[in-house]
Amino acid sequence: MDFEGIEFPTPPPYKIKMVEFTELPSLEERQKVLREAGYNVFNIPSEKIYIDLLTDSGTSAMSDLQWGALMRGDEAYASARSFFNLQRTIQEIMGFGYVIPVHQGRAAEYLMFRVLGLEKGDYALSNQFFDTTRANVEVRGATAVDLVVEDAYDITKETPFKGNIDLKKVENFLAERGERVKVIVLTITNNSGGGQPVSMENIKKLGEIAKEFKVPFFLDAARFAENAYFIKLREKGFEDKSVKDIAREMFSAADGVLVSAKKDGLVNIGGFIALNDRNLYWRIRQSMVVTEGFPTYGGLAGRDLEALAQGLREVLNERYLQSRIEQVAFLGKLLEKRGIQVLKPCGGHGVYLDGLSFVPHIPREQWPSHAVVCAIYEHSAIRCVEIGSLMFAKRNGNGEWSWPKLDLIRLAIPRRVYTLDHIIYIARSIGELYKRRDDIKGLKMTFEPPMLRHFNALFEPVR
Ligand code: F0G
Repeated sequence: MDFEGIEFPTPPPYKIKMVEFTELPSLEERQKVLREAGYNVFNIPSEKIYIDLLTDSGTSAMSDLQWGALMRGDEAYASARSFFNLQRTIQEIMGFGYVIPVHQGRAAEYLMFRVLGLEKGDYALSNQFFDTTRANVEVRGATAVDLVVEDAYDITKETPFKGNIDLKKVENFLAERGERVKVIVLTITNNSGGGQPVSMENIKKLGEIAKEFKVPFFLDAARFAENAYFIKLREKGFEDKSVKDIAREMFSAADGVLVSAKKDGLVNIGGFIALNDRNLYWRIRQSMVVTEGFPTYGGLAGRDLEALAQGLREVLNERYLQSRIEQVAFLGKLLEKRGIQVLKPCGGHGVYLDGLSFVPHIPREQWPSHAVVCAIYEHSAIRCVEIGSLMFAKRNGNGEWSWPKLDLIRLAIPRRVYTLDHIIYIARSIGELYKRRDDIKGLKMTFEPPMLRHFNALFEPVR
């Protein structure tokens, strides 16, 4: 069975039990909303959004079993039953002995980098840091270094593991400045680079290098199940292994994980650190009480811990992973068919469009990908997000910009939320916009925050 010559994705292993209403505002309303939002899509009230592809983070639909689990939450301040249930689940899936819940991923980053003592002159290495992870390195005065393989910057190249870190570059960096490298964080899948997976071979070899140079090595494992599923699909020798076993093998190569549970944890809030180093664990335990809370709840309610334990089990369902990955790829193919350059191959949690070829008439100083993001909202009330210059460009002392190599528009697909008809609407709408892309205007930034610019910047259209 196909649609426009493209094979339909595998249906998911669930059915819909509850729905949430959405509305499609009129064109005049959408234009007014954009103006009032200062052309920053983070400021658009969600009730004015028809399909929300801003992020796959905290936007999953929970299952009946998760809603049921909420009722079992033990709200004891310390050593609640729900904590031990979560700890058992994480120990079983990931194999780490110590588990520290936190309110979301960036709290894990903040705590870990504080306890590892990152400071000015230090380095943290990664395939690619995501925005908050990078910010948590930089607020400490340290430098975040991206060492992803070159292929990652070639949008059209169809290599299977574009999230891999360049091991040679890591070795060279460690040989030269090893004593100042305080941590290695491998992002699986690589969000900034298009949700691209990292191979098992790459994870293991990096683990060996980190051991040799005695640098703590953590996986930023927000999308670990999607990464493990890609390994099953694409890496030789893993075809017949279960995703659960593959995930366990990935984790065995690292010292621990920093996890935003808002992605593959299938919950709306939550995160955790898991690790084996007893000494580090005790230091985090003591440090976190000031900001996150007692170490058995870490800023979460007991019910959140229960829902997360259940979500971590559900995300390993391989039919679910198959239908999810295929749904995302289906959207990618529909958009490609309309002549739009998408980052290839499609990643795990969304389709990334090349902003620079979408609007070649808009110069980098006028934020081309972000201009497309705003135009997509204006055209069809779909909200997506820029992952490019607005998020990552740096300015030197003379005010000159250095632009990141990729300038992308991310259509993140929330888990278990949208159906195939939504996907078709998205492709058709963006396809229509693409036909009249010459009309899209650049944007002028009228307010520039000093850090994590994209969340709070304001704009107006260039006339
Ligand atoms: N690491 C990765 C790879 C992420 O994608 C995110 C968040 C975080 C860490 C931080 O986690 O939001 O729970 O504090 N990514 C979201 C996104 C916001 O839209 O991609 P958090």
